[in-house]
Amino acid sequence: MNKELRESFHRAYMTFFEQAERTRRWNPFTDIDWDAIALDRTDAQLATNAETFCGVEMFLPDYLNTHLELFGRNYAQAWFAANWGYEESKHSLVLREYLHRSGQRTEEQLHDYADTILSKHWQRPYATPREMLIYGMIQELTTFVVYRSQRTLALDTGHSVLADIYRLIGRDEMAHTKFYQHMVAMHLDDDREGTLIDLAHVLRTFRMPAEQLLPDAEARSVLMRSTGINGQVYLRDIVAPTLAALRLTRHDLLRTRKSAIPGQDAATHDQES
Ligand SMILES: [Fe+2]
Ligand SMILES: [Fe+2]
Repeated sequence: MNKELRESFHRAYMTFFEQAERTRRWNPFTDIDWDAIALDRTDAQLATNAETFCGVEMFLPDYLNTHLELFGRNYAQAWFAANWGYEESKHSLVLREYLHRSGQRTEEQLHDYADTILSKHWQRPYATPREMLIYGMIQELTTFVVYRSQRTLALDTGHSVLADIYRLIGRDEMAHTKFYQHMVAMHLDDDREGTLIDLAHVLRTFRMPAEQLLPDAEARSVLMRSTGINGQVYLRDIVAPTLAALRLTRHDLLRTRKSAIPGQDAATHDQES
C-alpha cells in the first residue's frame, strides 16, 4: 500500500472512532427500555425475523477472520476491524436478549440456535481485498435498509422496544456504510479504473451475507420476504445512494466496463435488469 493511502486510511479511522466514542456508543443492558417489553405483544413473524437477522449477525467470527486475514497487517484497517467487531457483536446479542426477555425463545433454544449457526462457516464471496471492501460497503447499506424496514414494521405493529433495538443497530450499520464509502472513495482516487471495475462487478453479483447458511429453507425464505429487497429496491435504496455517495453515475460503471473489458457487453447488469 502506498504511503498516501496508508495515511488517508489512518485519518479516516481516527475520525470514525472519535465520532463513535462521542456520539454513537450504546449499552444493550441500559439503553433499551426492557421494562416496557411486556407491552410488545409476542408476534411469531417478527420473532422469526429477529432470530434470522440475529443468525446473520452471528457469523461474526468468520466476518472478523476474513477482515483480519485481508487487512490485519494494516494499522488503521486492523483497528477498524476490532472496533467494528465490538459494535457488530452487540447486534446479535441484543436481538438474542429481545427473543429471550420477550419470552419468545428459551435460553436453551437460543444456545441450540447459536450452535447450529456456528457449526457452519461463511466463506468470503470475493477474492481481492478491494472487492471485499466494496462488498462490505454494499453489505452494510443493505443491512441498514433491512433494519429500517424491520423498524417500520415493528412501529406499525406496536412493538416499540423492538423498534428501538432496530434503530440502534441501524444507526451502527449506517456509520459502517459511511466508513466503507470513505475507504472506497480513497481507492477511487488511487486507482479509478481498477476500482470502478471492482465496483461494477460487486454491484452486479452481490448477495446477502450468510443467507445460504441459515439453518433451514423456511428461515431463508422468511429472510428474503422480510427484507423486502427486490431488484427495484436494490437499485433505488442501495445502488443509487452508493453511487451518489461516491460521486459516480451508472454511466461511469458502464463506460469503465466498455473500455476496460473489451468485448464484454456493458449492459448486462444482472441486478439492474
Ligand atoms: Fe450488524
Ligand atoms: Fe455493520
